[in-house]
Amino acid sequence: MKDLAQTNTSAPWAEVGKPHPHESAVLHVCGTANYTDDLPELQGTLHAALGLSTQAHAKINNINLDAVRAADGVVAVYTAKDFPGTNECGPIIKDDPILANGKVEYVGQPVFVVVAHSHDHARRAARLGKIDYETLTPILHPRAARDAESYVLPPMSLSRGDAQQALEKAPNRIRGSWQVGGQEQFYLEGQIAYAIPKEANGMAVMCSTQHPSEMQHIVAHALAIPSHSVQVECRRMGGGFGGKESQSGLWAAAAALCAFHLKRPIKLRADRDDDMMVTGKRHEFHYEYDVAYDEQGLILGARFEMVSRAGFSADLSGPVATRAVCHVDNTYYLSNVDIRAMCGKTNTQSNTAFRGFGGPQGAILIEYVIDEIARLLGQDALDVRKLNFYGRNDAEGRNVTHYGQKVADNIIHELVAEIEASSSYRARRLAINEFNAQSPILKKGLALTPHKFGIAFNVTHLNQAGALVHVYLDGSVLVNHGGTEMGQGLNTKVAQVVAHELGVPLSQVRVSATDTTKIANTSATAASTGADLNGKAAQDAARQIRERLSEFAVKTYGGNVADVRFSDGQIYCNGSGIAFEEVVNKAYFARVQLWSDGFYATPHLQWDSKTMTGSPFSYYAYGAAVSEVIVDTLTGEWKLLRADALYDAGNSLNPAIDVGQVEGAFIQGMGWLTTEELVWNANGKLTTHAPSTYKIPAISDCPEDFRVRLFKNTNVADSIHRSKAVGEPPLLLPFSVFFAIRDAIASVADGKINPPLTAPATSEAILRAVTAVQTL
Ligand code: MTE
Ligand code: HPA
Ligand code: MOS
Repeated sequence: MKDLAQTNTSAPWAEVGKPHPHESAVLHVCGTANYTDDLPELQGTLHAALGLSTQAHAKINNINLDAVRAADGVVAVYTAKDFPGTNECGPIIKDDPILANGKVEYVGQPVFVVVAHSHDHARRAARLGKIDYETLTPILHPRAARDAESYVLPPMSLSRGDAQQALEKAPNRIRGSWQVGGQEQFYLEGQIAYAIPKEANGMAVMCSTQHPSEMQHIVAHALAIPSHSVQVECRRMGGGFGGKESQSGLWAAAAALCAFHLKRPIKLRADRDDDMMVTGKRHEFHYEYDVAYDEQGLILGARFEMVSRAGFSADLSGPVATRAVCHVDNTYYLSNVDIRAMCGKTNTQSNTAFRGFGGPQGAILIEYVIDEIARLLGQDALDVRKLNFYGRNDAEGRNVTHYGQKVADNIIHELVAEIEASSSYRARRLAINEFNAQSPILKKGLALTPHKFGIAFNVTHLNQAGALVHVYLDGSVLVNHGGTEMGQGLNTKVAQVVAHELGVPLSQVRVSATDTTKIANTSATAASTGADLNGKAAQDAARQIRERLSEFAVKTYGGNVADVRFSDGQIYCNGSGIAFEEVVNKAYFARVQLWSDGFYATPHLQWDSKTMTGSPFSYYAYGAAVSEVIVDTLTGEWKLLRADALYDAGNSLNPAIDVGQVEGAFIQGMGWLTTEELVWNANGKLTTHAPSTYKIPAISDCPEDFRVRLFKNTNVADSIHRSKAVGEPPLLLPFSVFFAIRDAIASVADGKINPPLTAPATSEAILRAVTAVQTL
């Protein structure tokens, strides 16, 4: 026993809030972290590959698989008719076949799955299918979908006030259309599933997924077996970014189908090109806007229409569009507003979740409009932004969103003031003006953009989580929770929470793989809620163990339960500190339960999807960034010279991980808005399906001067240790890169003309905009 007098027990045990490295960092850099493809293969393992549609829209008259069956190394081939259960993997609406059934709806749609002795044999054989198509007319563009009123879901609308009247009475009015492109998730580890048949029709699937429970349901339905017979496990992903929220289902189900029939372990690993051809991406958005504003730039009324490229099926397009509608305000109060959102049905990949989930596509529209207004008024866009900010509090008013949620924690004024000062925004603006005046070819641009992002699944029931905490007799702790690790550091944060609760060092806590046999009915690790939900659930479990240990300690050592402290590997009780494992051991012999489950459901959420009103978010996460670029107006090439970012992570659970998330999201968002371009040809074939033609940012694209900081703040909501989510919101920070590029282009005409620049601002698009500005 330690003498209490020698130990400061008043200092709270603080495993949370520390910049601990990612719990798998050493494994990552040593190459010893296991991803699905690294699991030792069981004896008898076979490999599968998918045969893909070559048509965008066609009736299938006949599928001739003789050549596939006859190919070297092939064991079996399966099609839609081979499902014992339902051939369906749609997450919300059942319009998403695993294998095409009677028709194909995009180039790349899986039609059959072939099993062979090797991955290479399977892939070669998959090309030999002879499918007799009867070609139908495809719809290849969201605007064409809108003209044809071809939607995967009914249109949505939301209005407040009287936009029509505000527009009619407008002192100034701006109308136009605009668009932002989609984006490939480009997780480094592609889609993969390894299905292992178990006794009595059981099936285990190890796969790369953000949503093990959904995989379990899809496999169970496809095989017509109960959920209790399906086990899905994911140790970690090499990135998901939303692309493995629903769309890992097809791979899991196809592998399970083969394993079910052949009674052999089956691995289905997507090659990068197949992955890009088969799976959905971020939704491209097309906008129409009509906005009334006064002489200072205050927005008086607005009408917005958005059409997304949903692709051939609904997938998550509904909640994505809803999040877009709930983020067109960004940080601005919109008094009179009328919004319509449509999910255009196109004969292309079914688009899905991608970091931000429609939020970026909503918010960037208002940023574009403000950028336009500022240039028309000859003002600095930052001043127009500030003028339109939500009010700080009830007294100031202007603090209720268009969907009815109060902005109860508005810190955007302070946050923007801080980064405006720390980035020397005004001084650099003057310096850039001077630079541009004497530099005819190379032009610099600068922009500051803010964001506000709503945290919670916008489908209320998904905001729940479970966890299990096991304490073993040596004092080591094993945690299992429903969240998945995709590199974002969720397991590190959850382990920190548990270590903190039990007063043990982080090194004593291990988080096991996500497993549907441990936690049932989990939500996807998505909507940035992983740590919020699973951190709280794990805390709940750890607290129950702590309470039992406290009671036991008081029984054994005396004192009061309320005074028992768990800190630095000790349990302090009745004036003494006893080693955690010593108490744990004694408690075991006294038959005290040393493990517990935990549960959490986010309180105070309310959403009416019919009227699109309520309080769908638990709180908002804020941020702002300042970017400075230099553009070569002869070639369209550009470089990000400096970026400053300030992000509100509340009381950060782990500032090192959070800064990493902000940096990663910033560069990923910059890729979306600049170099990453998805191109479908006239036949609807995606032509940018490999890194050779699809350009994601590289290390050389990161700014040499990159200043990322966390804003000092405490969450007003009772989140886990008053932290805030960090996964998605910082993807909105590089709006500043796009608007800095636009600013540089505008300087060609002294900032007087609004450059017609759509996103992504590729070098070609920049050059077109420069030419347009020069000739207007
Ligand atoms: N960070 C890494 N390294 N890899 C990823 O795949 N996905 C992002 C974000 N950060 C992702 C990531 C997305 S889309 C989400 S929703 C969140 O992480 C999910 O994790 P969280 O809720 O635990 O933050
Ligand atoms: N984000 C991610 N996935 C989701 C959401 C969301 O807001 N809502 C439903 N699924
Ligand atoms: Mo993230 S797009 O919610 O997986």
